[in-house]
Amino acid sequence: MKKSLFLLLLPFVSLQAYSNPWQMFDRRLGMFIHWGVYSVGGYHEQEWMKLGLSKAEYEKYLPKFTAEHFDPDKFIDAAESLGAEYIVITSKHHDGFCMWDTKTTDFNVMNTPCKRDVLKELSEACKRRNMKFGLYYSIPDWHHPNAYNKLSSHQLKEPNPGDEPDMDKYRAHVKAQLSELLTNYGEICCLFWDIPPNVDDPEMNALVRKLQPNIKINNRGWGGNEGDYSTPERDFGDWANRKRPLTETCDSVGAQSWGYRANEDYRTKSYLTKTIDRCLCEDSNYLLNIGPKSDGTLPKEAINLFSKTGAWYKKVKPSFHGEIVTDLTSDRNVKIIKTPDYLYLHYPNGLTKTGIDLHPLKTLPEEAILLNTNTKLKSEVIIPTYRDEPSLHIYDIPIDDIPDEPPIIRLKFPPESK
Ligand code: GLC
Repeated sequence: MKKSLFLLLLPFVSLQAYSNPWQMFDRRLGMFIHWGVYSVGGYHEQEWMKLGLSKAEYEKYLPKFTAEHFDPDKFIDAAESLGAEYIVITSKHHDGFCMWDTKTTDFNVMNTPCKRDVLKELSEACKRRNMKFGLYYSIPDWHHPNAYNKLSSHQLKEPNPGDEPDMDKYRAHVKAQLSELLTNYGEICCLFWDIPPNVDDPEMNALVRKLQPNIKINNRGWGGNEGDYSTPERDFGDWANRKRPLTETCDSVGAQSWGYRANEDYRTKSYLTKTIDRCLCEDSNYLLNIGPKSDGTLPKEAINLFSKTGAWYKKVKPSFHGEIVTDLTSDRNVKIIKTPDYLYLHYPNGLTKTGIDLHPLKTLPEEAILLNTNTKLKSEVIIPTYRDEPSLHIYDIPIDDIPDEPPIIRLKFPPESK
């Protein structure tokens, strides 16, 4: 009689398995793009507010937004080099500048030297290259005369001179913008609202779903509506409050700004690989941001980081396609994903030694491989010196060969243990 690996283990451990994350957000890694007229300043996407500029001072950036080297395929090349399978771009950030050819305001990309509908070109290139396309939309709008909302964060200190704050009028404006965005750019995989306004309007998400029935909506929308997925960001302070089952964690290659910043503090490959590993093993998607320059090119540091991180991700990607298994071993450091053929052991925090013990597992695998380097590993069932019962032990893991990657070990068990 064939014994299941889990039947073998059942007397010793209790198992919990979450449903397969691939069935929910089946593309696990995305590329976030923060691009707008703020890239001219090369400081921060919220430069207008942070530096206390006037509207007239900020508008001076418009004639400098040339985007002369913008090539949507280069953006997609960068996404592919990371292994990302969807893109989410800022259609409008807090400054109110629109990256599409809109009839709702003159404060848009067609009134800059760029004169190209960036969303149109990018959405068409995405469709051509099997990249899903999603939109970020900020609810504050520092440029629109009716938008000032003192119930919300991320507002200018006070309305611009001459503004007439009026939430009813502003809501109508947002709906007009959504109608354009969700009608003219093909299939939109997700809507990433930003900065909940503390004003409810159930019609907003209803309109979004009517125009894009398959869309996923995040949890930063009108009236604290939780939407379909939660969005912990940066150092994931709100990680614990994420709403299962859908979560997408976001961070940027730059630690200071989401938009292009000339003197940026770039993340390290080690930070990104470990964070991505942890998030994906904990059932979350991961959205990694890049900030293009105002000439349309991508910063070379960011491109390098995307491809270095992607080189790791592509080697280990199959190890995220499965079911999350907890309590298989007493080791709290490991995260385990199970597929029909393999058990994948992930160590997002790295390993401090070259051997691991998988107590109380006692079944010898047919094969143990360090996926990062494709190295075959030695395994034995032994009684380690610190315990008096046998357990599976894996030896000689070449950890020092992969100092900036979380180790991922693939185990294959003999057919009789399946
Ligand atoms: C924060 C920042 C905003 C950025 C967003 C990305 O809300 O304030 O500028 O666009 O994070 O999630």
